[in-house]
Amino acid sequence: MRILSGIQPSGRLHLGNYFGMMKPAIEMQAEGEAYLFIADYHALTSVSDPAALRQATRDVAVDFLACGLDPERTVFFRQSDVPQVTELTWLLSVVTPMGLLERCHSYKDKIARGISPNHGLFAYPVLMAADILAYQSDVVPVGRDQKQHVEVTRDIAIKFNGQFGEVFKVPDVSIREEVAVVPGIDGQKMSKSYDNHIELFGDEKDTRARIMRIVTDSKPLEAPKKPESCNVFALYRLFAGDEQIEQMAADYCRGGYGYGSAKKALFDAMWGALEPFRRKRAELCRDSDYVESVLRRGADRAGAEADKTLKKARRAVGLD
Ligand code: TRP
Repeated sequence: MRILSGIQPSGRLHLGNYFGMMKPAIEMQAEGEAYLFIADYHALTSVSDPAALRQATRDVAVDFLACGLDPERTVFFRQSDVPQVTELTWLLSVVTPMGLLERCHSYKDKIARGISPNHGLFAYPVLMAADILAYQSDVVPVGRDQKQHVEVTRDIAIKFNGQFGEVFKVPDVSIREEVAVVPGIDGQKMSKSYDNHIELFGDEKDTRARIMRIVTDSKPLEAPKKPESCNVFALYRLFAGDEQIEQMAADYCRGGYGYGSAKKALFDAMWGALEPFRRKRAELCRDSDYVESVLRRGADRAGAEADKTLKKARRAVGLD
């Protein structure tokens, strides 16, 4: 089973990104033949600073490798290193009805937010379809916000196959349910746009300071507290072991245990759990040739697959 997903390079990652997207993407490698790419062509629809794009792309690559992505098991590459997908995008775009793209929520949302649309933003789902179809993917795990784009991909594949013969596998979408709800320091869902996030690889001082700012109720030290409605506890569960979690829950319920202590325990658990990732990341940052070689090798493997598909598609439409 071939599982494919793409991630947009979007700067420094936080705990919400890690548990919501990175960890499940890394775990794909245990479930089938995983393809994971950094969607830098897509990023160009919203990023116009070349240095920032280059940096963000390198950062995502390093972060994924640091967090356990195994480049032997996952075909890990930069989208733009396989430019065949842009040719495929054209072949798909001539069977894509305008109305299909006009209905896309993600496009409409961006317009509603006042973003002045370029053609790339409008055609975004066709490029995404090419990403998915080029590698004959079986399953595409995505967050809820991308579900419609995979449905568009299916429509395009069916249309193309109907018109020109069976060229593409029609992929299934798999929705990544939020495995863990990751609250931000204000208790809302963790998100950079709310500025309530805790960075995955922030420095020690800043991380500690943000943890100390997590919002709690104002029960005094002696009072018994409710673990299930506490943001500190919710984050602690993501990092601590079962026994530690039970211990903290018991401390809360008994009373005489303050939020300050819970926050210190959270910092220690988080800092300790991320230590191996941080060490690996420091190593990778010193060896950019290695990171580059991983992406190159991934692109070679992915490119060979894309070539096969493109050959079939070109032949089907009459270019060859
Ligand atoms: N649009 C996706 C996102 O923003 C990223 C993406 C690009 C993608 N191409 C893809 C995801 C193909 C899955 C499959 O999250």
